[in-house]
Amino acid sequence: MTDCRTIAVANQKGGVAKTTTVASLGAALAELGRKVLLVDLDAQACLTFSLGLDPEAVELSVHDVLLGRVAASMAIQPTADGPDLLPATIELAGCEGQLLTRTGREYTLRLALEEVRPSYDVILLDCAPSLGVLTINALTAADEVLIPLQCETLSHRGVGQLLDTVRDVQRLTNRDLRVMGVLPTLFDSRTTHAREVLADIVTRYGLDVVEPSIAKSVRFAEAPAAGRSILRTAGRTPGAQAYREHARRIAGLDLADEVRVPSEFIHLATEVVPT
Ligand SMILES: Nc1ncnc2c1ncn2[C@@H]1O[C@H](COP(=O)(O)OP(=O)(O)OP(=O)(O)O)[C@@H](O)[C@H]1O
Ligand SMILES: [Mg+2]
Repeated sequence: MTDCRTIAVANQKGGVAKTTTVASLGAALAELGRKVLLVDLDAQACLTFSLGLDPEAVELSVHDVLLGRVAASMAIQPTADGPDLLPATIELAGCEGQLLTRTGREYTLRLALEEVRPSYDVILLDCAPSLGVLTINALTAADEVLIPLQCETLSHRGVGQLLDTVRDVQRLTNRDLRVMGVLPTLFDSRTTHAREVLADIVTRYGLDVVEPSIAKSVRFAEAPAAGRSILRTAGRTPGAQAYREHARRIAGLDLADEVRVPSEFIHLATEVVPT
């Protein structure tokens, strides 16, 4: 038994900030001194690329690990942002087909990560926009699933399907899987539309909203080109601060932990409050 927490970041809808969330949350957790492993489970290798690695130059990847060619520890690399990364390459595209013929295919990632779990506090799994065998592997390996959601018309389509898949996994391969909730991403607080969509999804599916929302900001689109997360390229922006808040919550730190005011100051402060 270890205290390592494994979180799958999943939504089969494309472009809802799964990869951005994994990169940003990972960097924010590393900032807090947590040992973090990020796993790229998308053959597009966007996470790998956005953390500064050239997927075409990666020699050992998650694909080799899933096929049992090497141990996970052999393929893991450090990143400039702080977390370690189990990278992906385009080879992963063929992996689903290869896994399908294997017995116990849903458990492949879970078993592969067992070796490295004791070395980490948090493992974040970046799922591809699909509900295929790799996403089932992620949900089977995870303690929790976090669902990034862009709150716009028709966003709810697909959430039901994802939750059906989660329930199947809970029934068949991972009874302990917990839904952390939906994380509103690319959020436009200037319109009431986003709030209405979010409220509808929450009541329709009985999901928790993981606050704070991540505001839409062009700074997010700039970060991957620099091979760093937004925590490093624009660390003071509201988006980066929001991911820091999520990291503190996941790390089990209270917001109050950061500004620990000695009791004598609290006493003074109460005395100067005007009556
Ligand atoms: N808060 C934000 N504000 C503006 N742009 C954002 C924000 N978060 C992410 N983006 C941008 O949106 C695009 C999609 O993000 P990302 O790649 O993280 O989504 P994804 O869900 O992983 O996509 P896919 O389903 O293709 O894997 C990227 O260009 C990213 O830089
Ligand atoms: Mg992605």
